[in-house]
Amino acid sequence: MPISETEVHLDPDALAAQLADDVRAGLTATPRTIPPKYFYDARGSRLFDEITRLPEYYPTRTERAILVDHAKEIALVTGARSLVELGSGTSEKTRLLLDALRDAGSLETFVPLDVDPAILAEAAEAVAAEYPGVTVAPVVADFERHLTLLPRHPRRLLAFLGSTIGNLDPGQRAHFLGEVRATLVEGDAFLLGTDLVKAEERLVAAYDDSAGVTAQFDLNVLRVLSRELGADLDPDAFVHRAVWVAEHDRVEMRLESVRDQRVRIEALDLDVDLAAGEQVRTEISTKFRRAGVERELATAGLRMTHWWTDVDGDFALSLSVPA
Ligand code: SAH
Ligand code: TRP
Repeated sequence: MPISETEVHLDPDALAAQLADDVRAGLTATPRTIPPKYFYDARGSRLFDEITRLPEYYPTRTERAILVDHAKEIALVTGARSLVELGSGTSEKTRLLLDALRDAGSLETFVPLDVDPAILAEAAEAVAAEYPGVTVAPVVADFERHLTLLPRHPRRLLAFLGSTIGNLDPGQRAHFLGEVRATLVEGDAFLLGTDLVKAEERLVAAYDDSAGVTAQFDLNVLRVLSRELGADLDPDAFVHRAVWVAEHDRVEMRLESVRDQRVRIEALDLDVDLAAGEQVRTEISTKFRRAGVERELATAGLRMTHWWTDVDGDFALSLSVPA
């Protein structure tokens, strides 16, 4: 079971300092925001895993179906010897790529990268046990800041699945794609999962499910802040909202204050007054069209070579190479 020592670019102290800065900036901004990477503590990662199995949450099973149909082709055209997965989570769908690359005989190394060390360790151990011939080299890092530190194995396939790219705003996406381009060399490739624009009802339902799991996931960020920053944020004093903002092609997740309240964030020595009905934005989930994805990739110096969708055109996987 070859599993290398976990590379850590994000130690708990650095993360705590960043959390404090981000929360101060977000809660004092207009409109107020809470940065989304703090959703994924142990409980948050578990809730997200539940989201991926909800009937309303079509992205995961649709992306999986595209991988079932095209993983073999992806393995053939990339000839990848290493697979680097950004925001890997459970790496559940990634097994389809690992299978195809192993069957093609090229796979040597798997590098899962995530901010949550717990889910990363669990996934790395599981993959190492299932793929005895593959070296698993997990990395705890922030994909918005640490891509230049990635190990430079030959013939890398960089995968960014789950439409996690949609959780970045346009400026963050441009920066992120620039960093992706900078780390790639001739012979490497970039596999990107993007959720596509569709009817508003389906989009909103995917982020406000009838079982209330997404609401739990959203509200969990309040517990993270209460624990990490000594805040007194009461999950019962907020409700979860998912709103389609057509102007920006995105679903916005918001926590709405159910009453006038003053919240205290002890570690920041900060009091925030929230009015009844006031919303704090916690996450965006941008939806894409082919032309937009191609343009954003091209701006970063990446040339799209393949675009695969499901029959209903709900979700897309694209493959790009350095232009
Ligand atoms: N790739 C999986 C999981 C998607 S959920 C899938 O397709 O189902 C998003 C994952 O990205 C979570 O595991 C979360 O911990 C991780 N993540 C979120 N922000 C991150 C960041 N800035 N840097 C690294 N990982 C991040
Ligand atoms: N990348 C996922 C998406 O945009 C993340 C996600 C799914 C999410 N459900 C969520 C983020 C609910 C916040 C709240 O689909």
